[in-house]
Amino acid sequence: MKGIVLAGGSGTRLFPLTLATSKQLLAVYNKPMVYYPISVLMLAGIRDILIISTPSAVPVMRGLLGDGSKLGLNLSYALQDEPRGIAEAFLIGADHIGGDSSALILGDNLFHGSGLRELLRSSRRSLDGCTLFGYPVADPERYGIGEVDSEGMLVSIEEKPRHPRSNNAITGLYLYDEQAVDLARGLAPSARGELEITDLNREYLRQGRAKLVELDRDYTWYDCGTHDSLLTASQYVQYTEKYLGERVGYLEEIALRMGFIDAEACYQLGAGMRESNYGRYLTEIAYALD
Ligand code: G1P
Repeated sequence: MKGIVLAGGSGTRLFPLTLATSKQLLAVYNKPMVYYPISVLMLAGIRDILIISTPSAVPVMRGLLGDGSKLGLNLSYALQDEPRGIAEAFLIGADHIGGDSSALILGDNLFHGSGLRELLRSSRRSLDGCTLFGYPVADPERYGIGEVDSEGMLVSIEEKPRHPRSNNAITGLYLYDEQAVDLARGLAPSARGELEITDLNREYLRQGRAKLVELDRDYTWYDCGTHDSLLTASQYVQYTEKYLGERVGYLEEIALRMGFIDAEACYQLGAGMRESNYGRYLTEIAYALD
């Protein structure tokens, strides 16, 4: 399975924060936002990851993460020069996917929960068509909204409905079988001129092969796309790390736990940043986890 992080868009809802920098490079507590979605793909066991971003952000992302080899990953980069929709990721990423199945995650989405690795593993194993992940929200008009039957199969999906049929938001993590690129090629732009991910998901719904896994209270999900959600996500990570002692989105630690790198590599990566709590933590756990 190949991974894609879509980190495009102009972040207009975050202006002026994003007038001169990309949303996905902003801080969520102690690390750049893009660490969180990358960590999710890593927890799913995915090592081939394409990062799609804007022409100004790609060089910065490359400076931050390089080719991924330090984390035991294979990272590549591609441009989305205009916000032409989430489903365009499958046109831009067609070569990267190369006929494989894929996991797409939005660059501003933060997922956390102790069962996440196992949930991703089992979702990959049982993938047939597409698997989406739902999360209850108070403001369903802002999201893609899904309805499921008793078997967890999607029965309806709507993008930012005025009269939502449920409060089950479709989060920005999507698992697809090998058909995604072909189906995306057949989509027409919506009224707002974008290739909508909801239209791609509707194609799978039509085939009766769209599953919606509802994330329960054991999980937390934020999109960090507004001033308030960005701050709330930072506060959540701070609280979880400082007071619950659980770390969120430490790429080097995850690489070690997943067996992508060894203890010495993790230690050295931490040592290079030992003046920060982040780096020091890596040096402390590197050999303890081994
Ligand atoms: C996008 C999707 C929407 C989804 C949301 C999750 O919305 O179109 O279906 O629920 O991401 O973050 P956007 O944030 O681009 O408005």
